[in-house]
Formats: sequence, C-alpha cells, structure tokens
Amino acid sequence: MNRSSSEQTAFRWGHGSWAIASLLAVATLLATASLLTACSGDDGPPLTASAEEGRDVARSLGCAACHGRNGEGGVGPSWAGLHGTTVALEGGTTVVADDDYIRRSILEPTDEIVAGYTVVMPNNNLDDGQIDAVVAYIRELG
Ligand code: HEC
Repeated sequence: MNRSSSEQTAFRWGHGSWAIASLLAVATLLATASLLTACSGDDGPPLTASAEEGRDVARSLGCAACHGRNGEGGVGPSWAGLHGTTVALEGGTTVVADDDYIRRSILEPTDEIVAGYTVVMPNNNLDDGQIDAVVAYIRELG
C-alpha cells in the first residue's frame, strides 16, 4: 500500500462517516422538533375526538376570543373546571353547570347571566352538532 492510496482510503472513509453523522444530526433535529411540538401545550389536555371538534368550533366561531384559546377565560368566564360546579347568576339564583345549562348558555346567552359580568355574550348560530361538540369540550375541561 503506498501513501497515496492510503490517503484515498482515509478520505473515502472520512467522507462516508461525515454523511452518516450529518444524517444522524438531521434525524436528531427532526425528533427533537416533533417532541417539542408534542409538548408545546398549545392544545391543552388530551381530548376525545368530539371534544377536539368542540375546541376547533370554539376557536373558529369566535368563542375563544372571550373564553380563551384553551377555554381559560378572558372577557367571558373560564370553561376549565366549570362543568358540574354551581354557578351564581345575576339576580341571586344559582344553577348547576351540567350539559343542559351549558347548552342553554350557548343557545340563549342572555337568559341566564353569570353574576358579575357586564359584557353581553353575543348570540351565535351554532348547529346542534357544533353545540354537542362544544358541550363535550367544556365537560372534558372540567
Ligand atoms: C363577546 C364575548 C363572548 C363571546 C364571543 C362568547 N361568549 Fe360566552 N360568555 C361571555 C360572557 C361575558 C359570559 C358570562 C355572562 C353571561 O352569562 O352571559 C359568557 C358565558 C358563557 C357560558 C356560561 C359560562 C358559565 O361560567 O356559566 C358558556 C357555556 C358560554 N359563554 C359559551 C360560549 C360559546 C360556545 C361561544 C361561541 C359560540 C361564546 N360563549 C362566545 C362572553 C362571550
């Protein structure tokens, strides 16, 4: 083996391992990126398909503007932990926040006003399927 051929061998080996190393680096980057996406928390807690649809309805039909992107509240009350609790209404009455109450709140937003809110929740025209999905979403946030 003369000097030039061993240099050539070394060069080829070196080139190959560089390629493998860079492939590994890319794979590691991709794996890290997908882990980061999975853990970013943007989508909140894991949800059933129906609740996920409800979250998307709330985000696309304007509810999220007042109730938060993940139902955390804002101008309107938070949906997190709402389901099953007793809500104080304007006028001194209370109501249990079950599926029916949540459905009524969406269908007739001005009938039962949560105590302490001056902003009026607007009417909306969600269809039955969308309402069911939002109710499932709020139930799962509870
Ligand atoms: C302009 C802001 C605004 C928008 C948009 C809005 N809401 Fe509301 N929402 C409120 C406010 C303020 C209240 C509390 C006063 C009341 O009961 O009306 C409320 C109350 C509620 C309640 C009862 C919450 C509780 O704590 O008892 C539910 C359920 C609800 N909204 C669902 C929705 C859904 C679903 C949408 C989208 C279709 C929506 N809201 C859009 C402002 C809003």
